[in-house]
Amino acid sequence: MTIRPWKIDELAYAGPEHLDAAFVAGYDRKQGHPDPAEDIAVLAAHGLGPTSTVIDLAAGTGQFTLAAARRFGHVTAVDVSPAMQDALRKRTADAGFANVGFALAGFLSYDHPGPPADAVHTRNGLHQLPDFWKALALQRIADSLRPGGILRLRDLIFDFQPSEADAVLERWMSGAVTDPAAGYTRDDFADHLRTEFSTFRWLLEPMLDASGFDIVDAEFVGSVYGAYTCVKR
Ligand SMILES: C[S@@+](CC[C@H](N)C(=O)[O-])C[C@H]1O[C@@H](n2cnc3c(N)ncnc32)[C@H](O)[C@@H]1O
Repeated sequence: MTIRPWKIDELAYAGPEHLDAAFVAGYDRKQGHPDPAEDIAVLAAHGLGPTSTVIDLAAGTGQFTLAAARRFGHVTAVDVSPAMQDALRKRTADAGFANVGFALAGFLSYDHPGPPADAVHTRNGLHQLPDFWKALALQRIADSLRPGGILRLRDLIFDFQPSEADAVLERWMSGAVTDPAAGYTRDDFADHLRTEFSTFRWLLEPMLDASGFDIVDAEFVGSVYGAYTCVKR
């Protein structure tokens, strides 16, 4: 890996809660259990199967990693947080998977060994990086994929104009829960806006294009949450 003195420390941007073993222990309850079936079906529809290799970037506790390991040949779970990685290693060992690899690394530091992967999945992690770094991360993702490889990206991404921010964000926050153990509260949402880097759809899509991706599908929920399927040119 080339050391560049101007590179950010990804751990400093990773969200302090993600580095906290107590938070990680409660993460699945807080986050709920979003069904990875749709993401897996999208990858399968693009030809991935039992011999395919998938990278799960910012894998967290591995809700996608383990489901993908049941369906695809090999999954590499990459996360910059030692606490998240420890939890996922334990869960993987308990479940007896032999086709999951691990890397304690970030979007900006993970170098995929061996042949390029067939797909990258990343959910709810890219917003940890400011936009300049997001663009570099997307380029690195493209570099880790074979031509025709798939990027499946889910994140808090804003599909509105700046003039609509107050109205859309208030609508979003009105759906917050009150129990922080059971979901995301108004304070969590406010923290996200203040300290993390969700970007606008109309900024992200040119970044994807500049990194060598064609967007083949984009779906938004409530103008605040996007799911993208992209093909590397
Ligand atoms: C909200 S969690 C999402 C975890 C998982 N993808 C999911 O959907 O449940 C965000 C994850 O991103 C990881 N993360 C934060 N910054 C990162 C970076 N620069 N590179 C890789 N992972 C990062 C955190 O450690 C955490 O596990």
